Amino acid sequence: MLENIHVVHFSPAGNTRKAALLLAQALGSRAVEQDLTLPQNKGCTFGPEDVVIVAGPVYGGRLPEIMVHRMAALQGNGALAVTLAVYGNRAYEDALAELDDSVGKQGFRRLSSAALTAQHSIVTQLASGRPDQEDAEEIRHFANEILMKYERILSGSEQPDGYPVPGNRPYKSWKPMQAVPEVTPACVRCGLCARRCPVEAIPAKEPSRTDPSKCFLCMRCVAICPEKARKLPEPVMAGLEQKLAPFMEIRGKNEWYL
Ligand SMILES: Cc1cc2nc3c(=O)[nH]c(=O)nc-3n(C[C@H](O)[C@H](O)[C@H](O)COP(=O)(O)O)c2cc1C
Ligand code: SF4
Ligand code: SF4
Repeated sequence: MLENIHVVHFSPAGNTRKAALLLAQALGSRAVEQDLTLPQNKGCTFGPEDVVIVAGPVYGGRLPEIMVHRMAALQGNGALAVTLAVYGNRAYEDALAELDDSVGKQGFRRLSSAALTAQHSIVTQLASGRPDQEDAEEIRHFANEILMKYERILSGSEQPDGYPVPGNRPYKSWKPMQAVPEVTPACVRCGLCARRCPVEAIPAKEPSRTDPSKCFLCMRCVAICPEKARKLPEPVMAGLEQKLAPFMEIRGKNEWYL
């Protein structure tokens, strides 16, 4: 087991962080978190001796554009990265390739990569509660494989970066839906959603508003509102539930690349 494992995550609704921390606990005795979700993040500089989990959610088969942008504040300097694209039971398409390319650009070497299934942050009945116990066991198993590979890299018997992940280049194009969460009269104007919105789309003095030019429908405000006062408009939810219905009975796989 490693002494320290760094965890860099972009996780609006918390499911990506949950998956990344499960892997971190199985890889190292102490997880040092770096949260890219809020605009206040100042980035981080790593060194060749560091092992860093870099985890992001899948949006429309891609990484959220804002995450790619915020990753520019990371300096890998040869650190070994374990990349995780965390998806909501439908598909991860080009997101893992995009994540691997992004960490490469920031100077990381790739130790291993995985696409992990987690609860869908919009249609929360999809993969509800995942990663679950079964995922945790699988994650522990693959953590051992990753540690063995790490030892082989340290001894020089294996090189990092030597494995492909699926995905097209150029990546598929995707734009967020033109919708924002609605606010119901249950709102008590506590301001939590405004403080935690990753793109400051909610005015602190007027939390019943949402700036549609900033909101990327990440669902953080909906997930964290203590009064459950934020929700997507009914027709938007109904459309998504219909689109995702075929994935409701499927247990999405975790896919590992070493
Ligand atoms: C705007 C948006 C688009 C999404 N697109 C996909 C997708 O293409 N495929 C998929 O399987 N899950 C998709 N999801 C589900 C998320 O990838 C999944 O729930 C992830 O764990 C969310 O991470 P978070 O909880 O850390 O925010 C999407 C979620 C959102 C909010
Ligand atoms: S977190 Fe909920 S209750 Fe608090 S301001 Fe936002 S919508 Fe209103
Ligand atoms: S307003 Fe939009 S971007 Fe901000 S937390 Fe809510 S869903 Fe995410």
